[in-house]
Amino acid sequence: MKLPEIHKLSKRTRIISLIVIGLVLIVTTGVASAVLIRGEDSVYEPDVVSNYQPEPEEESEEVLEEKMAVEEKDSTPEPEPVSQWPVTYSVKEANSLTVVVNKKHKLPSSYTPSLVSVAGGQMKPEAASAMQELLNAASEAGAPMNIISSYRSYQTQVSTYQYWVDTQGQAQADRESARPGHSEHQTGLAADMGNPDGSCRLLACFGDGAAGKWLASNAHEYGFIVRYEEGKENLTGYIYEPWHIRYLGVETATAVKNSGLTLDQYYGVEAGGY
Ligand code: DAL
Ligand code: ZN
Repeated sequence: MKLPEIHKLSKRTRIISLIVIGLVLIVTTGVASAVLIRGEDSVYEPDVVSNYQPEPEEESEEVLEEKMAVEEKDSTPEPEPVSQWPVTYSVKEANSLTVVVNKKHKLPSSYTPSLVSVAGGQMKPEAASAMQELLNAASEAGAPMNIISSYRSYQTQVSTYQYWVDTQGQAQADRESARPGHSEHQTGLAADMGNPDGSCRLLACFGDGAAGKWLASNAHEYGFIVRYEEGKENLTGYIYEPWHIRYLGVETATAVKNSGLTLDQYYGVEAGGY
C-alpha cells in the first residue's frame, strides 16, 4: 500500500468514527429524553388534573361597570304615569274593556280601536258579538231596537259636540254630549239604542218604552250596562240617557248593576264635571 492511500484510509476511518460517535450521541440523548418524559408522566396525578378549576379571570373595571349599569337598569321600576287633569289614558289603558271614560278621564285623540261591523254600526269585536246577541234577544222578547250610533272617532265627536254647542249652548251641551276625547263612543264599547219607529229618539221617554225597559232589566246579561241612570247627573256628569249602553263583559256588567253604583263609583274613579 502506498503512503497516500494509507493516509486516505486513516482519514476515512476517522470520519466514520466521528459519524458513529455522533450517531451514538444522538441515540443516547433521545433515549434519555424519552425516559425522563415517561418519568414525569408516571408522577403525574390525574385526579388533581381532572379536578382542576381554572381561576376565573379577573374582570376589568370597564366590564364590571357595564354589568352594574345593566343590573341597575333592570331593577329600576318603570316610572308611574303622572296624573294630570284631565287624566289622559295611555293607548294601552284606552284599549281595556273596562276603561272608565268620563269628564275627568280622557282618551288619547289618536286612539282608534280595532272595529267590526254590527247591525249598521261599528264596535270592538267583543262588544259587537254581544250586541248582536242582545239585539236578537230583545227582538225575541218583543222589545226590538236598533243602533242609532255606536263607535264615533275623536274627529266625529268634535263635530257631534260642536253641533250641541251650536244648537243649545255650551252649558247644556256639556250635560248631554261629551267633549272630544271624553266620549265612551270613542272606545268602540258604547252604543245609543233607538226604537225601530224612531220614537223618543235620544230622549228620556225612551226609558219608558219596551226597548228602554228591556235594556234596564236585561242588558247586563249580554255584558252591557245603562251608563247614565236617572238621578245621577251629579255623579256621572250627564243627564239620564236610558238609550246609552256600555259594554263591560257579562261578569263586570252584572256586578256593576247589582252594586247599584255608577261605573265610576264601582271602580273608584273620579267623575262628575270637567
Ligand atoms: N252622550 C254621551 C255622554 C257622549 O257624548 O258620549
Ligand atoms: Zn251615547
